[in-house]
Amino acid sequence: MTTHTQPSSKRAAIILAAGQGTRMKSPLPKVLHPVGHRAMLDHAIDAAEALGCERIVVVVGSHSPEVRAHVVARLGEDAIAVQDPPLGTGHAVRAAQGVLGDFVGQVVITYGDVPLLKAADIEPVFASHDGVTVIGFEARDPGTYGRLVMEGDTLAAITEAKEASEQVLAITTCNSGVMAAPVGLLFELLSEVTNANAKGEYYLTDVVELARKRGAPTLVTMASEDSVMGVNAQSELAQAEALFQSVQRDAFLAAGVTMSAPDTVHFAWDTQVGPGTVIEPFVVFGPGARIEGGARIRSFSHIEGAAVASGAEVGPYARLRPGADLGEGSKVGNFVEVKNVRMDAGAKANHLSYLGDGSVGAGANIGAGTIFCNYDGFNKAQTVVGEGAFVGSNSALVAPVTIGAGAIVGSGSVIVEDVPADALALARGRQVNKAGAGAAFRDKAKAKKESRK
Ligand code: UD1
Ligand code: CA
Repeated sequence: MTTHTQPSSKRAAIILAAGQGTRMKSPLPKVLHPVGHRAMLDHAIDAAEALGCERIVVVVGSHSPEVRAHVVARLGEDAIAVQDPPLGTGHAVRAAQGVLGDFVGQVVITYGDVPLLKAADIEPVFASHDGVTVIGFEARDPGTYGRLVMEGDTLAAITEAKEASEQVLAITTCNSGVMAAPVGLLFELLSEVTNANAKGEYYLTDVVELARKRGAPTLVTMASEDSVMGVNAQSELAQAEALFQSVQRDAFLAAGVTMSAPDTVHFAWDTQVGPGTVIEPFVVFGPGARIEGGARIRSFSHIEGAAVASGAEVGPYARLRPGADLGEGSKVGNFVEVKNVRMDAGAKANHLSYLGDGSVGAGANIGAGTIFCNYDGFNKAQTVVGEGAFVGSNSALVAPVTIGAGAIVGSGSVIVEDVPADALALARGRQVNKAGAGAAFRDKAKAKKESRK
């Protein structure tokens, strides 16, 4: 989704991700924690890509090989800058200088732990081409944020809370941390930043005053506090997730999806749902779900990596796993799990089944309790059910196996050989009725119990 207008100069992004994230108290590095089933760091990279940044550099710490590996897998080795030890945000940005090499253009600095900030929120930061522009926000509780000290329309300084006077602490317009500047100016200013301050760190924010000293413009563009929120602890991760979900729900409602209890429906970052689809309360989407318009997703269903066509009905209590592909008007009902199976138009599996690895032809009916036995402990194999076939309840189809079009499988069968089209397959013990034997058994058992009294 590219929302940016053609940049009039080239763009690069430096994404800071070298913090240890100790307050998360988690073995997973902070920036790899997901929001909407996508790592926070990937949300930051998505925004940089959508802004048209041709170079993206992620500043990582050497304490976190997982973050490095994650970045290399997505962007390659030349997207990595290492900051070790972390000596402040200004020091972190400088760590990217060598990696940016001879890049010429605008550089934006963003953060791996700010997952909700979208390209559209960042875009205005590129308005000036010869100065420093900062994204500010109105803070409900300014706390430890850097304060934006204004002089008319221009930014005079960013003052960190620890260095601020009472008067400056009263300012509620705060620094999001995101800023942009031409690459040459940025690194010249950073080379002048010292660590002579309360924290003994190299503050990125010091570039504002240094730019002013040279007569370079220093500007502010505003964003909402929610969009710039940073995640430092699990409670903030949960808060970011809640905000993310609320944005998703509003977007789907606005796009014509019907939800009677949207607060109970959870989406992933890439969930697609078409207009006119009804999503009942308590539905959870994992990544990779594509639901066409005019489908119905009933309560308590879990859908991940699956496609659902128009007119199909899922649930209640259905589980669609990756590769489930439900055709038009098909039906997957309660306590049915589908994985890696194409169900053609009008195919049905209404109750208590596992369908893994295979296909179900148009209009075929899978009876209650049917299992596709797809795994022998070592390998997976395919079960193919032909068009219009009928599989009786409680059948085990031992893959690889094919049920021909129009065939019928008798209830309770264990099918290990292919069934020809239009055949009736019975693979179970033949029933024997012994006249009177039930009554005789009962009398004998009763007498035995009496004799023990
Ligand atoms: C910073 C800003 C502050 C702003 C706030 C917004 C400075 C000096 N202050 O403060 O004005 O209001 O963010 O949240 O910039 N990081 C590194 N390497 C480092 C230090 C930090 O990669 O050496 C990364 C961290 O992982 C984190 C981000 O930069 O994601 C911000 O660092 P942090 O130390 O939290 O800055 P704040 O003190 O919160
Ligand atoms: Ca912070």
